Amino acid sequence: MSASKKQFSRVTTASLQKMKVQGEKIAMLTAYDYTLAGIIDSAGIDVVLVGDSASNVVAGHETTLPITLDQMVYHAASVVRAVARALVVVDLPFGTYQADSKEALRSAIRIMKESGAHAVKLEGGAEIKESVERIMQAGIPVMGHLGLTPQSIYKFGTYTVRAREEAEAEALVKDAKMLEKLGCFALVLEKIPATLAKTVAAEVQIPIIGIGAGQHVDGQVLVLHDMLGMTQEFSPRFLRRYLNLQEDISNAVAHYTQDVKKGDFPNDQEQY
Ligand code: KIV
Repeated sequence: MSASKKQFSRVTTASLQKMKVQGEKIAMLTAYDYTLAGIIDSAGIDVVLVGDSASNVVAGHETTLPITLDQMVYHAASVVRAVARALVVVDLPFGTYQADSKEALRSAIRIMKESGAHAVKLEGGAEIKESVERIMQAGIPVMGHLGLTPQSIYKFGTYTVRAREEAEAEALVKDAKMLEKLGCFALVLEKIPATLAKTVAAEVQIPIIGIGAGQHVDGQVLVLHDMLGMTQEFSPRFLRRYLNLQEDISNAVAHYTQDVKKGDFPNDQEQY
């Protein structure tokens, strides 16, 4: 690690807990590569999630299901090399933790050992209890993920808001409490009613990070490519775009192409 990287104190799972207690909101974004991870870390993001959304935004798949453990390790290692301050959390991809808890532990160990990340994230509640337990027994911090869990998209059939019905809402609260009891250090709640997310954030002591879960939670997460406006076809209500990079990049590339074709690039100063 370079001297400049050492000037920051690391965000840890304990820092996130402290932020919840002190009422300081937690800012989390995804990153999948060295360059963007370095930029968002230097800008002060608290948590970098190496999300399996890389399957959509990097690889162009329709869902998160196809991304492999090898591919997640590659993305995670690239991100870890860039990040000096933030906590780096990595999604365990679909099919690497659901079959049994031993496989789940092996998958989590691969992520931690081969990427240098600080924690893993798993989707689901009671059905993955044993996997969460076993991973944590090995000393690996686990972040939970409830609500709209994209790895189960074919069970849900749609990306619409989850847990509007009482039975699903009750099950979600029960799962959140179970994950807290097992020792998860934080929980992502995706696309659920804001009132339900507020209840969960009040009833559990661990930080709740929302995406489409309203403002009464302990932090927020967005997919970086979405909030930078690199993706335009995905426009859920919860998404705030801070830039329109798709347009900016497209204009820059068109400009460069014109310059090359006209013989304006490179000019006298841009050559040896
Ligand atoms: O993979 C991902 O980007 C995620 C976030 C949407 C929370 O899990």
